[in-house]
Amino acid sequence: MWLYLMGLIGLYYLLRWYRERQVVSNLRDKYIFITGCDSGFGNLLARQLDLRGLRVLAGCLTEQGAEQLRNQTSNRLETVILDVTQTENISTVTQWVKERVGDRGLWGLVNNAGIALPLAPNEWMTKQDFMKILDVNLLGVIEVTLSLLPLVRKAKGRVVNVASIMGRLSLLGGGYCISKYGVEAFSDSLRRELFPFGVKVAVIEPGFFKTGITDKEKHVQNLRKIWDQTSPEVKKAYNKKFLDSYIKYTGTMDKMCESNLSLVTDCMEHALTACYPRTRYSAGWDAKLVYLPMSYLPTALVDTMVYLNSPSPVKAQ
Ligand SMILES: NC(=O)c1ccc[n+]([C@@H]2O[C@H](COP(=O)([O-])OP(=O)(O)OC[C@H]3O[C@@H](n4cnc5c(N)ncnc54)[C@H](OP(=O)(O)O)[C@@H]3O)[C@@H](O)[C@H]2O)c1
Repeated sequence: MWLYLMGLIGLYYLLRWYRERQVVSNLRDKYIFITGCDSGFGNLLARQLDLRGLRVLAGCLTEQGAEQLRNQTSNRLETVILDVTQTENISTVTQWVKERVGDRGLWGLVNNAGIALPLAPNEWMTKQDFMKILDVNLLGVIEVTLSLLPLVRKAKGRVVNVASIMGRLSLLGGGYCISKYGVEAFSDSLRRELFPFGVKVAVIEPGFFKTGITDKEKHVQNLRKIWDQTSPEVKKAYNKKFLDSYIKYTGTMDKMCESNLSLVTDCMEHALTACYPRTRYSAGWDAKLVYLPMSYLPTALVDTMVYLNSPSPVKAQ
């Protein structure tokens, strides 16, 4: 009986493995547009897809980032300046993409651009702090998608949205987790709506990786700046000792970051090139073994685990 069951499970994984290895044809004719290619995952993905022969259209925030990328890639790859918070910029870039892809349409849209700061306990922040992140990480994703969707539909292509494992488990205050939960929700409704048009939507959920977004110094500076701006009442409730332990805790998170970014870009590449892409990709061992399982645990248990493992104003008294 057990042997029979094990055989069935083995067969299921074998079939799944075989199915997931099927690659779409004519990759060299396919256009992929990626946001946030100056650094990190976006930059590596642009180089990786270029090497594989796809036609990469790379959105960069700065001319310096664009120039560096062009110097590292083939003539096939083209760059354009895109700030995902600027509606007019998005319209101009959409026209630029349309001129390049023509009747073929856009095979892949990768919404990768994102920011993590300001990040601190909720009560330390203002509405503007929340809006800053939501503007890039959520409204930016939505507006770029809505603008480029007709071109993706034409190609019966793919939308790949970079969320985070923090879009499944809210461990951080501020706009970051909220924005990533929003990306998950947007992607779910989009996937269901676009299914009849033959467009597939995938979500990437990385754990913690060493990129610009997780830079320890930037996080510490941000914490000090926000603390200085908080009201005397908040300062009294949390106290300086808590700030110090929070800064120390932020420093330890840096050590947990994985430096092999291709664990993430390989998932993005699979979502763009496989005949049968997954709906969700969790990238990194911390995401797979810690955060994703934690997200299925009872809330009270997760709350206790978080309380025991993170600094608290009461413990710091
Ligand atoms: N690293 C992680 O641990 C991790 C984990 C989960 C999810 N993610 C997500 O992965 C994505 C990529 O981040 P990353 O880790 O590769 O960090 P990164 O190196 O900082 O890359 C983010 C990119 O987005 C660009 N960007 C920032 N604001 C923008 C705007 N308004 N318009 C267009 N581009 C903008 C940045 O440009 P500048 O460099 O010029 O600012 C940068 O090139 C983000 O969505 C992030 O939330 C990262």
